[in-house]
Amino acid sequence: MDFKQHIRVIPDFPQPGIRFKDITTLLKNGLAYKEAIDALKEKVSRYEIDYVAGPEARGFVIGAPLAYALGVGFVPIRKSGKLPGDCIEASYALEYGKDKLAMHRDAIQPGSKVLIADDLLATGGTLSTTIDLIQQLGGEIVAGAFLIELTYLNGREKLGGLEVISLVQY
Ligand code: PRP
Repeated sequence: MDFKQHIRVIPDFPQPGIRFKDITTLLKNGLAYKEAIDALKEKVSRYEIDYVAGPEARGFVIGAPLAYALGVGFVPIRKSGKLPGDCIEASYALEYGKDKLAMHRDAIQPGSKVLIADDLLATGGTLSTTIDLIQQLGGEIVAGAFLIELTYLNGREKLGGLEVISLVQY
């Protein structure tokens, strides 16, 4: 399937000059959504995976169904102040703006093999912060799986050779 044709590009959102990749148009199409998750599942099938971790909020709509399809647990990475239990935190910069991500301290066990899933790899800031959190807890990141990769932002280059899988590139 040509997933790109299901992704709407909205100019100047949330700031002038940003061409926002809107995945709601793909998500509302049941066949496109299912095929996207199935395609990611197939691409990660060669890895041993204990957990899929996904950053709030759009990482949930890719990561949770992918975890379900793989039959493994899903670990939410949330913005600071949202998770109820004891957390570790890390700050990060976005393509636009800044934020803090948190993860429950007991979300994974040391040595767990974790696949990170999100809708979009842009600058790689979210991904490298997620990697930092998982590594603080002794997890091993097997790969990052994304619906979309903005290759012109060179997010991959920050990631020290981590395997990156993406379905659609801009
Ligand atoms: C978006 C997107 C990724 C991240 C990618 O999330 O869903 O998580 O930005 O950008 P980066 O590679 O430059 O870090 P955002 O923080 O906008 O949050 P949302 O999913 O809650 O909209």
